[in-house]
Amino acid sequence: MAVLLSGRGSNFNALYHDSLASDSGYRVVLVVSDNKAAPGLLRAREIGLDTVFLDPELLSGCPAFSRQLVKELQFRNVDLICLAGFMRILGRQVVDTYAGRILNIHPALLPAFPGLNAQRQALEYGVKCSGCTVHFVDRGMDTGPIVLQQCVEVLDHDNEDSLSRRILEAEHRLFPRAVRLFFAGNLCLEGRRVRIK
Ligand code: GAR
Repeated sequence: MAVLLSGRGSNFNALYHDSLASDSGYRVVLVVSDNKAAPGLLRAREIGLDTVFLDPELLSGCPAFSRQLVKELQFRNVDLICLAGFMRILGRQVVDTYAGRILNIHPALLPAFPGLNAQRQALEYGVKCSGCTVHFVDRGMDTGPIVLQQCVEVLDHDNEDSLSRRILEAEHRLFPRAVRLFFAGNLCLEGRRVRIK
């Protein structure tokens, strides 16, 4: 699979470490970033993984970025794309070419709090429970069919940092579980519903 990231890369790290287990059923063959200074990209390079930086300025316009991305993915026969903190909307060409084969992790219980700063949105709204979601990617933003969700309680003394930290710990367990289910052929997409075999 390929991991796309824009920043820190802790979810990439969790996926990479899970992929090393003999029973994981998958491996990471490519890490792509739209940010050449992304710590996650540098870490992938250090590990010795194949990495690609796609410069959003040079590949100005979504179609050029998508074309190049699809080329890189197809060249490596990627079966699954994981968006792990990739802060860019994927272009149509990518979403259509890899329909049903792109997973995203989001730090809230979708459909609540899509988009940016999901943890801040949850705190400002005053929910007692938030969490994280792994979902298939469609043409919308954070709208695709939900694969797995994990609740995280919002505590009275929580601020954005403390809540984000606990949600992130849950993300690191949830994303690898979803990827394993995908590669085991255990995710069955029926309209908007994902049945787990
Ligand atoms: C994670 O919390 C992920 O859920 C979030 O960005 C963070 C990336 O952290 N993604 C989104 O908000 C996407 N809408 P990481 O780089 O340490 O994995």
